[in-house]
Amino acid sequence: MNVLVFASRKGGSGKSTLAAHLGSYMAEHSRPTLLIDADPQGSLALWHQVRGAGNLPLHIGTKHLAATLAKARQDGVEWVLIDTPPNAEASVAEAIWHADLVVIPMRPGLFDVDAVQATIQVCRELKKPYAAVINAAPAKNGSDDAMVTDARGAMQALDVPTWAGQITHSPELSLSLAYGAGVNEFSSGSPGSEEIGNLWRALTRSFEAIEAVTGKHAQSA
Ligand SMILES: Nc1ncnc2c1ncn2[C@@H]1O[C@H](COP(=O)(O)OP(=O)(O)OP(=O)(O)O)[C@@H](O)[C@H]1O
Ligand SMILES: [Mg+2]
Repeated sequence: MNVLVFASRKGGSGKSTLAAHLGSYMAEHSRPTLLIDADPQGSLALWHQVRGAGNLPLHIGTKHLAATLAKARQDGVEWVLIDTPPNAEASVAEAIWHADLVVIPMRPGLFDVDAVQATIQVCRELKKPYAAVINAAPAKNGSDDAMVTDARGAMQALDVPTWAGQITHSPELSLSLAYGAGVNEFSSGSPGSEEIGNLWRALTRSFEAIEAVTGKHAQSA
């Protein structure tokens, strides 16, 4: 079972958005997945409510997280996606403690580059693998936009592993959530849908690399 935690102290960086779209992608590809909304704001839970009952179970809250994860493992869940709030509360550190990999979404820009450092510090203290994911980026025009290049440079200077791809800023990523859907369901084959698929494949490869180091069994694509 792969436990993926979305964390960043920067509000609006895309934690809930990526958790929802990846969850939807995994459900479509028949990967037994559990969503956990550990953010009292309840964005992921709201999306799930609009979505209605289906093939993507949701657990709300952080109480009994260890027991929830143990039950998920017993039930054969392959992927657990935990959305966290943009603060430094103990619940975030607890979620990170349970993570196999922490995804740190960041918009390309000075404030996000600055804000990710606090989350990275927690990951390093807890010795958890982590990766920054550039989200809501300007569209590529053959190569990365200058803002993305700058953000990558800053992450490299901080020695932060950063996904080589990007999630482009696109209305369909936002709009699909309003219908309780993922972009893969709402706009199959669109660039946004392709990017979410690329991110999932990159995460799968990361889990395989983690498995090679730790001996932990990861589910491959
Ligand atoms: N790639 C994207 N393209 C278009 N809109 C996006 C994208 N990523 C995020 N958004 C929009 O930006 C807003 C903030 O995103 P989201 O709620 O996922 O951030 P968050 O990190 O979960 O915020 P918080 O820290 O407050 O929980 C939402 O309205 C979302 O629809
Ligand atoms: Mg959120």
